[in-house]
Amino acid sequence: MYNIQPKTKIIGKIHKFVPTCHSTNDLALEIIQNTENFHGTVILSAFQTAGRGQKGNTWESEAGKNLIFSVALDTSFLAVSDQFYISMAMSLAVFDTLQQLNIPNCSIKWPNDVFVGNTKVGGMLIENKSRGQYLRGSVVGIGLNVFQETFESERASSLFLSGLDPEITLNTIVETLCLHIETYFNYLEQGRFEELHLSYLKIIYKLGKEQLFEVSNQPFMAVIVGVDTDGRLIVRKEKDTLKFEIKQIKYLF
Ligand code: BTN
Repeated sequence: MYNIQPKTKIIGKIHKFVPTCHSTNDLALEIIQNTENFHGTVILSAFQTAGRGQKGNTWESEAGKNLIFSVALDTSFLAVSDQFYISMAMSLAVFDTLQQLNIPNCSIKWPNDVFVGNTKVGGMLIENKSRGQYLRGSVVGIGLNVFQETFESERASSLFLSGLDPEITLNTIVETLCLHIETYFNYLEQGRFEELHLSYLKIIYKLGKEQLFEVSNQPFMAVIVGVDTDGRLIVRKEKDTLKFEIKQIKYLF
């Protein structure tokens, strides 16, 4: 299904395609646990039997139609307390990939859902392994709906339904993604945290706009004003500025 030759130095140079697996993130996590030189290894699959999403959700993807991608990264130079910068960096990598593919109206719904207009076309599941106060390695799992045409949820869509040039292949998307991941990984290595933070804020879905949220079963309107460096969403509700962790707040549409 794939024959990738990314024009990178490291990311994706080592890659493995498994036609079916439980979860590419699980395979990449095993690689981090069991090998020394795992940095940049990419695992691709056509179908996952137990694809995992954020907040313990499952990730469903029609066989052979979409991108199912995990990359193992050596993040051992990062303190555990700086881990949200990985999320920012990888969100920017996916965003730039979609820009390069000429997809209009892309954004990242906090923390790292991939949006086109008001529909979700993909998501990221970042799993970090730590050693004391530092990370040991991270797996960045990316699911991107590319050629799938029907979805159960009306809030889900694919790049094809969002205007992707049908000549573009999954191969090209992977190669482009690897390049952007390498660029933003370099930002992390170089400690360019403030740039990452400022750039991430610029691509956030509905930044500065009113949105209906729910916290502890209570719906309320609030304006999204930012995301802090620990990854908490900052909203303004009337005169109050409030911060929420991912598990504490839900977007209502
Ligand atoms: C989400 O939006 O909840 C995140 C979805 C992440 C899905 C990807 S697909 C490749 C990798 N393997 C998994 O099991 N999950 C991620």
